[in-house]
Amino acid sequence: MSPPLVEASAISRSYAMRSGMFGRSTAVHAVDGVSLAIAKGETLGLVGESGSGKSTTGRIVLGLEPPDRGEVRFQGKPMAAPGTTAWRAQRARMQMIFQDPLGALDRRLPVGTQIREPLDIHGVGTPAEREERVRELLRAVELTPAHGTRYPGALSGGQRQRIVLARALATKPDFLVCDEPVSALDVSIQAQVVNLLADLQAQLSLTLLFISHDLRVVRQISNVVAVMYLGRIVEIGSADDLFARPEHPYTQALVSASPAPGRRSAGRIVLSGDPPNPAARPQGCAFHPRCPRAVARCASEVPILAAVGGNRQVACHLVMGAATRDAA
Ligand SMILES: Nc1ncnc2c1ncn2[C@@H]1O[C@H](COP(=O)(O)OP(=O)(O)OP(=O)(O)O)[C@@H](O)[C@H]1O
Ligand SMILES: [Mg+2]
Repeated sequence: MSPPLVEASAISRSYAMRSGMFGRSTAVHAVDGVSLAIAKGETLGLVGESGSGKSTTGRIVLGLEPPDRGEVRFQGKPMAAPGTTAWRAQRARMQMIFQDPLGALDRRLPVGTQIREPLDIHGVGTPAEREERVRELLRAVELTPAHGTRYPGALSGGQRQRIVLARALATKPDFLVCDEPVSALDVSIQAQVVNLLADLQAQLSLTLLFISHDLRVVRQISNVVAVMYLGRIVEIGSADDLFARPEHPYTQALVSASPAPGRRSAGRIVLSGDPPNPAARPQGCAFHPRCPRAVARCASEVPILAAVGGNRQVACHLVMGAATRDAA
């Protein structure tokens, strides 16, 4: 098997959070020992509730901020230190797409000019070749060259996100991190934009890290899905298999709340207890206060992510084959 294009090994990142003006500073473990690998041309979907560490993982994998611990490798090489020439060369192979296309675009410039910008900055081709590339990119995202003359304010949300996508693709990246790329769009056009992304991915052999709290959207595009809870991956496996047979009680609750299209839910699992608070992560399994199946051990021992058959890994004491690490 070819080595993964992108690989994160046990990355962690904490932030100091101060409560009140003279309050004590507490550490928020945004990401805690996350490992993942994405094969070339594949999509890893990252799901989990707000505050589970998805965006932080995305920023670290992109080299936008360094991990406190652990390492990211891109094309087999460690990510270079931010700001160095080697880092810029690696970063040129990667792009990020955010939730809000209007925030990512300059309202004062025609969108065609904004798609051309990365080509101008990197001095790619002659001016005429750059213009042709902009037309080509507009067609690739199913718009017309005429759209290039418009300003962001004169486009719909879905069209704006297509422009952001065209600009991200201008320099022919290998890897895209998409952080909630369709969450701000009407439900009716979310599927169209995700389909377009999937088509472009196949044509251009793009590798994607696709972050979303919406399982329907993740199901549409991912080969592999990782579920995060308070900074840790609690379950990871092939998308079809994971959605069909979730093992972790948290994944089971998420999947039960988002049944596959055309299939009736077998009964929604409603989680009790408070929503997760990253500043006060429970001891043991961080999910145990909300877990319908928790036993005494779950409150004291942190379950580690362990293979449970197939290519599935689960961090749960109640799942056969899963293991335990010393209480953290
Ligand atoms: N720069 C930062 N400074 C301080 N705390 C941060 C910073 N970035 C993230 N955090 C904290 O780390 C935790 C994880 O945040 P992150 O944005 O990665 O979550 P997320 O899963 O992307 O959530 P959402 O679904 O709301 O986007 C949160 O508690 C957040 O407040
Ligand atoms: Mg986020």
